[in-house]
Amino acid sequence: MLSLDLDASDDPRPVYVRIAERIVADIRRGRLRPGDRLPGSRALATSLGVHRNTVLAAFAELLSEGWLVAVNGSGTFVNAELPETAAKSGGRRAGGLGFVLPPAPAPVPEPPGAPLQFASTPDVRAVPWSPLARAWRRVTRRSGLAGYGDPRGDEALRAALAAMLAANRGLGVGADDVQITRGSQMAIYLVARALLRPGDVVAVEALGYRPAWTALREAGATLVPVPVDGDGLDVAALADLHRRRPLRAVYVTPHHQYPTTASLHPARRLALLDLARREGVAVLEDDYDNEFHYDGRPLLPLAAADDAGVVVYVGTLSKILAPGLRIGFVVAPRPLLDRLAEARRFVDRQGDTLGERAVAELFEEGEVQRHVRRVRREYERRRGALADALRRHLGSALEFDLPAGGLALWVRGPGLDFDAWSARALARGVAFAAGSRFAFDDTRLAAARLGFATLTVDEIERAVGVLAATRNASDPRAR
Ligand SMILES: Cc1ncc(COP(=O)(O)O)c(C=O)c1O
Repeated sequence: MLSLDLDASDDPRPVYVRIAERIVADIRRGRLRPGDRLPGSRALATSLGVHRNTVLAAFAELLSEGWLVAVNGSGTFVNAELPETAAKSGGRRAGGLGFVLPPAPAPVPEPPGAPLQFASTPDVRAVPWSPLARAWRRVTRRSGLAGYGDPRGDEALRAALAAMLAANRGLGVGADDVQITRGSQMAIYLVARALLRPGDVVAVEALGYRPAWTALREAGATLVPVPVDGDGLDVAALADLHRRRPLRAVYVTPHHQYPTTASLHPARRLALLDLARREGVAVLEDDYDNEFHYDGRPLLPLAAADDAGVVVYVGTLSKILAPGLRIGFVVAPRPLLDRLAEARRFVDRQGDTLGERAVAELFEEGEVQRHVRRVRREYERRRGALADALRRHLGSALEFDLPAGGLALWVRGPGLDFDAWSARALARGVAFAAGSRFAFDDTRLAAARLGFATLTVDEIERAVGVLAATRNASDPRAR
């Protein structure tokens, strides 16, 4: 019999919900097994001291969720095929799909997890978490911030970002020129939605950032790859493409080309801006790791030289602070910003106002700037340590240029199968991204991207040791 003890509960939920829950609990514990017959609703109502309709309501709920089945004339039974997924999660029926889904976008594989990863993410251990937590506590006391807010994002953070962009990146902008998003991924998605119509042709770098491509495709764009080389995007090839297939937009990573780390050559920058201006092609500039430049002066973004309103500038705090904070931003001409704010209202209303204000206070206190100065020195050290370890362990196999900035090295190894190598290294606890991961046409490239920012100098040494040991499949250490 059911172990219902309704009186003892001070649970405020309706009685029928509690009855249904207890029946599910009994099924889960095995007190009621698939195929068991439940007591009749009248008998159960009497034994529980509730109205029969209350029991019927509980049964109806469980019938609809698939826990019970009713057999005409015989009574109510525990379903022989229990809703397994729902049983595990305790949630509602999660099994079959009663409607048709459109085809899914091509999945972007997540990088594999491993104890040592050559990831191009920052070292989140170094983030000033305590000052951030204090700022968070302070802002939660200000009740005005906990209500509905501006879909453009918290004004104090927009002002702080505008000040950063003006001070370091040559962008003469104010708070009203900035739209905050959840990471640059949402920025690219919203911009793509606002800018593109189905069938628009968008040029992308032939080696590039897949999550951005997916967002552009989701907005209906047809993507066409343009080659990249040691000077970044091949702008002559882009112009040639535009003559054949007029472009609506081009998505570029000019500061440190992703994944090759090359900076766009000054002559190409001018040519790109000139083409965009003349032809009305939008330039979607993804400036994801601007702060991390080690040699000489950082290049200014294309947006800093844009006097025609053709550049849509996307940035992020994912490298400056941490990807998990999900703070990105867009700087663009106002009519586009207005569209982005409207679009954001539909999907996210306003973002995380409290978190954004806490980060704004971190900027106001100078903590973010101090953090960037600290980690920039450390990342430069790690860049040197990785280059040094690669030269010592793999000097005859790999070639690379020391990147002027960024959080990764692009290494080439003519004749090497980096895909197979990365699988062997992964089996030994070291993850890195083989070049084919970034290729528009999935070609296998004799190259790889090795991020250095998340690993300490000791860890870099160990991880490169594993790379050396797993380079040749025939090396006994590789297995
Ligand atoms: C080219 C590029 N753009 C943007 C991002 C950052 O994405 P988000 O701001 O959504 O974390 C990354 C992070 O890896 C990146 O490599």
